[in-house]
Amino acid sequence: MSSIVDEDLNVIAESIREEAKLLEGRTVLITGGSGFIGSYVVAVIDLLNRKHFSRPCKVISLDIHITGQSSKNNLVKEIDSPHIRFIRHDVRFPIDIKEPVDYIVCAAGVASPIYYKRYPIETIEGTILGVKNALELALQKKIAGLLYFSSSEIYGDPDPNFIPTPETYKGNVSSIGERSCYDESKRLGETLCMAHFVVHRIPVKIVRPFNVYGPGMKSTDYRVIPTMLSQGIAGRDLTVHDKGNQTRTFCYITDAIEGFFKVLLRGRDGEVYNVGNEAEEINMLALAETIASSVFNNNVRVKLISYPSNYPKDEPRRRCPDLSKIRKELGYSSNVGLKAGLLRAFEWMRSSAG
Ligand SMILES: NC(=O)c1ccc[n+]([C@@H]2O[C@H](COP(=O)([O-])OP(=O)(O)OC[C@H]3O[C@@H](n4cnc5c(N)ncnc54)[C@H](O)[C@@H]3O)[C@@H](O)[C@H]2O)c1
Repeated sequence: MSSIVDEDLNVIAESIREEAKLLEGRTVLITGGSGFIGSYVVAVIDLLNRKHFSRPCKVISLDIHITGQSSKNNLVKEIDSPHIRFIRHDVRFPIDIKEPVDYIVCAAGVASPIYYKRYPIETIEGTILGVKNALELALQKKIAGLLYFSSSEIYGDPDPNFIPTPETYKGNVSSIGERSCYDESKRLGETLCMAHFVVHRIPVKIVRPFNVYGPGMKSTDYRVIPTMLSQGIAGRDLTVHDKGNQTRTFCYITDAIEGFFKVLLRGRDGEVYNVGNEAEEINMLALAETIASSVFNNNVRVKLISYPSNYPKDEPRRRCPDLSKIRKELGYSSNVGLKAGLLRAFEWMRSSAG
């Protein structure tokens, strides 16, 4: 359903209209440009090129389609532009680009728990070597900004006194558990970025997204919202792990992408920003019930199941961002409520056989 995606891309382009001018005539290199978030970053730049810029922003996108979401170059949009190049490249290996690069976005990663349990070594290497290779490239070019996608997972299972969680919370993470391949590599990725900021003054900016969702996430992504939506579309029960009392907050893609661009283009160098939605912390049982009633008119049931064996143990009990910093410094706000966002993700999934 491209009209939903087109509407969303327009909302994003409008929300970053001022700061996006900095991209005009520049070149952005993005790793993971064919993933869920990367697809939106690339599609927004394509839209800005077509509608707003007189000098196009070039994009070089690197991806190897490891997570099987899709073999397409873009999950949400056919991109046919002389200014946007898709290169199949594994970011664990050096990134050799001859032309000038102005901005680097490091969005490659194995982001879904089922996949990082299946590919723990690739997850670690993709994150650490991926950001290391991007920083090496940044050293060769005179870049205006490098955006590193860390994760809210770096907080681990936060102390309840630190929920909502501010950027200053140091985390409660296992170094050897089944989630550590993701959590610890994201943490070291942040450290690598900060070391390059301190030693070489590379203008790094770090984002810690909190559960972004929306059109483009397919059933094969295996994160909770696309999983429940695809179960409901197939008329199956919506399955909830354990008792379903673990909580999350969910950020609709338009809000998240606005936040990411704001941090890349106006965020302070060497700083980290939470990006998410602080308004609706919800437990997984309530999420399933909301999806059953709001999306499927109670024509599907909710069923509690034990944790599947392919799901990593020790998931955080609660997660909710403190967004004071990005709100105050960059004027960020999340505008799309959970029910509205779920309906948009559902419409896209139903019509695209996702
Ligand atoms: N979506 C979220 O809610 C969320 C939350 C926190 C952090 N993040 C981080 O944001 C980034 C983007 O997430 P997403 O939701 O788009 O995930 P995604 O899985 O949809 O996209 C990641 C992309 O990176 C690519 N990739 C993985 N390893 C690679 C490698 N070695 N070389 C080249 N490409 C590689 C994958 O093929 C995929 O297309 C990731 O780093 C993720 O860890 C996302």
